[in-house]
Amino acid sequence: MVEGVLAGKVALVTGAARGIGLASAQAFADEGAAVALLDLDIATAEAEAAAIISAGGRAMACPCDVRDDASVRTAVNAVAAKFGTINVGMCNAATLTQPASIVDLSLDAWNQALAVNLTGVFLTSKYLIPHMILAGGGSIIITASQMARVATPLRGAYCATKGALLQLAKVIALEHAAQKIRANTLSPGGIATDRLAQQFGDLETAEREWGPAHPLGRLGQPVEIARAAVYLASDDSRFMTGSDLLIDGGYAAR
Ligand SMILES: NC(=O)c1ccc[n+]([C@@H]2O[C@H](COP(=O)([O-])OP(=O)(O)OC[C@H]3O[C@@H](n4cnc5c(N)ncnc54)[C@H](O)[C@@H]3O)[C@@H](O)[C@H]2O)c1
Repeated sequence: MVEGVLAGKVALVTGAARGIGLASAQAFADEGAAVALLDLDIATAEAEAAAIISAGGRAMACPCDVRDDASVRTAVNAVAAKFGTINVGMCNAATLTQPASIVDLSLDAWNQALAVNLTGVFLTSKYLIPHMILAGGGSIIITASQMARVATPLRGAYCATKGALLQLAKVIALEHAAQKIRANTLSPGGIATDRLAQQFGDLETAEREWGPAHPLGRLGQPVEIARAAVYLASDDSRFMTGSDLLIDGGYAAR
């Protein structure tokens, strides 16, 4: 067995085909966990799971649409069936909503943001928790955002869903503390992923235009969030629940 702070653990990550989710799944595997990569983009998730296996880790990929009750239930149960249990769940998938004022935002775009960013986390948690109870405890990590705290014009749906996740994590933490299940949000600032490449056209433009909004003067890298995810997943954070870990280069300090 690989030695590491997550040796012997099973970790599930949604939105794991790329970006922060992939970096976190890779970091969990590096720390000894068996990892399940859940994503809409199953071809990429499968290729990334194969790469983790080639590097000596344990991994599987599962098709999953976090908006869909049956899809999430099937995927979570498939992971527990393959690896025997689930100890860590990172609810990380989110959709990209085009910038629009509240007046201009379509109801469809609003509903889509809620379905992926918020209902997706509800469903993933709902189906993870029974496995964690059987396991005698676990850690749920919900990827929120600095925009859970700091409002940005034209990002109403995103800010609202991310703010709601802070409260959802607290409720899960209170409901399941006695069962040794911890739930925390992890809130990145701007991180150089495909999401920002899509938003800004390319990553160079994202770095130039948005990096300076972070007092440290740059965007973050996925691995800088993944290391925090390892902390939240591991026993090193055993006294932390119902809380938010903000890793944003100082963005929210202004
Ligand atoms: N990148 C940033 O600057 C940043 C900042 C703050 C918070 N976050 C949050 O971090 C998380 C990951 O962001 P990222 O930048 O790595 O994103 P990304 O857009 O690069 O990757 C998201 C992944 O989620 C998957 N996905 C989308 N909809 C899905 C669905 N319905 N079901 C299953 N999978 C789905 C996509 O296929 C993709 O692989 C998100 O919750 C995002 O809101 C990102």
